[in-house]
Amino acid sequence: MADFFVKRRQTTECPNKRFSLSVQRREIARKSTGKGSSKLVAWRYKVDEVHADSSTFVAGVSKSQAYDQVLTQATALFAHQTNWVCNTANTASLLYHALQALPSPSNKVNWAGFYVLDPSHPNQLILGPFQGKVACQTIKFGKGVCGAAAQSEKTHIVPDVEKFPGHIACDSESRSEIVVPVMKEGKVVAIIDIDCAVEEGFNWEDMKHLEELAGLLADACVW
Ligand code: SME
Repeated sequence: MADFFVKRRQTTECPNKRFSLSVQRREIARKSTGKGSSKLVAWRYKVDEVHADSSTFVAGVSKSQAYDQVLTQATALFAHQTNWVCNTANTASLLYHALQALPSPSNKVNWAGFYVLDPSHPNQLILGPFQGKVACQTIKFGKGVCGAAAQSEKTHIVPDVEKFPGHIACDSESRSEIVVPVMKEGKVVAIIDIDCAVEEGFNWEDMKHLEELAGLLADACVW
């Protein structure tokens, strides 16, 4: 059993019982916040083995708790793996299943995955691992929501894709979308793309957690 240390977030939000069996965590450090109370600053994770239960999300959790589980599982999965295909594939699974476990509009997510920098064409993205229906293979920087996010290096939340000029409709069912760039050493190496079959599927909370996830991926993978 691997045992490793990670200092990630200052939160106690997600109770242990909501975690899958593949990752158990033990509190190891607290920081005083004054007034006699303390804040959790670090967990020690015990990792058995990679297991499908990592994608099991308990119904009824909040969006913040679901993303907390995604980030915890991703941290554990990336601890001994640097291959970007492997890590983005497992991340797509975590995201898709986490969002499906939430109430509407999150459970109307119909595509969750990655486009990465195309090694054979500068300023072009190529399809990476995902969950959902077959999608466009390549997207030029500046085209569609993905290309706009890659070019601007900024997260794009699109409440109504029909109002986004140049939106690329891989799946006509998609009504809203969020795209988060994955930045390594100041350059875009990939984007996280999630589509939803209803309008206004994403908000600041998705953005906050997905940007943290993008940071984890950027650091963990050899791109
Ligand atoms: N809608 C995206 C294209 C990718 S798919 O949604 C999977 C866009 O406008 O860039």
